[in-house]
Amino acid sequence: MLPKVLLTKSLPPDSQKLLENAKDIELIQWKSDGEVQSIPREKFLEMAKGVDGILCMLTEKIDSELLDVAGPNLKVVSTMSVGYDHVDLNELRKRSISLGYTPGVLTDAVADITVLLVLAVTRRMREGIQAVENGKWRIWSPTWLLGTQLTNKTIGIVGLGRIGFATALRLKPFIGNNGKIIYSSRVEKPIASSIGATKVEFEFLIRKSDVICICCAMNEETKEMFNYEVFKKMKSNVILVNTARGGIIHQDDLCRSLSEGLFGGIGLDVTTPEPLNPNDPLLKFDKVTVIPHIGSATLETRTMMGNIAVENVLTGIRGEALPHRVDD
Ligand code: GLV
Ligand code: GLV
Repeated sequence: MLPKVLLTKSLPPDSQKLLENAKDIELIQWKSDGEVQSIPREKFLEMAKGVDGILCMLTEKIDSELLDVAGPNLKVVSTMSVGYDHVDLNELRKRSISLGYTPGVLTDAVADITVLLVLAVTRRMREGIQAVENGKWRIWSPTWLLGTQLTNKTIGIVGLGRIGFATALRLKPFIGNNGKIIYSSRVEKPIASSIGATKVEFEFLIRKSDVICICCAMNEETKEMFNYEVFKKMKSNVILVNTARGGIIHQDDLCRSLSEGLFGGIGLDVTTPEPLNPNDPLLKFDKVTVIPHIGSATLETRTMMGNIAVENVLTGIRGEALPHRVDD
């Protein structure tokens, strides 16, 4: 009997082929009927029974219940994402199951979209597009839809990992020689000096930054790290952009602070929940721009992520070293 791999969603075409062409596994794939959606939890529990490997997305929770149902054959979980806050790593460790992920290949795509949000929010792009579409575009005016210039501003990067650094690198030319880049991080990042970025305390970063980009992983430490107390300490016209995980921001506090008039603008690629209900109070604020978790969504990047996820699951099944394993 061939080892079984459960795939929870269709992969980009090249990656899908790579997995389907693997002769030494039996592929079990959940298929949505028509609309793109995620495997329902009940179905996931049912299909995971007795599998040897799971290739999942960030939309599937991997916890003790799922692992118990899967049983002792399970050797590897491979998530097609760089973030793995949806996976209970401790439970995996207890069972000696490897976790594969897809670091590195999505750095450029996510940094690009972070910059896109910074520019879109500082230049009030959502309001501009709405005005054009709603017939509110009258005539050129010296004072209409004035945004904020990035030149000479201070950019604060929360988490200077690969994505944080790539974001800082991209934003540097926008702020010019008199702008500043500061970052907060658990550890000093030597690479920061190459772009003149300095490490500061989180407290300092939130008080001094004109633009804040959240580029850190979500974990116990960073969950809801951005809350009402923090928002109150920020500059009143600060631009806040989150392309990491929705849960890093306390979203009710964000709405409360917005209704109190705080912030110059907000740009989010990630929210709580996802998808965000179109009637969510957050969307009532003109200065909030939300896009639907598409940070890594380029064909090139998603194909690389898919291929790595496939290699991770196949090597795991064969008992070989995973090319990209979350280290113990
Ligand atoms: C996307 O959010 C990822 O973690 O890959
Ligand atoms: C993710 O790839 C990061 O380290 O920022």
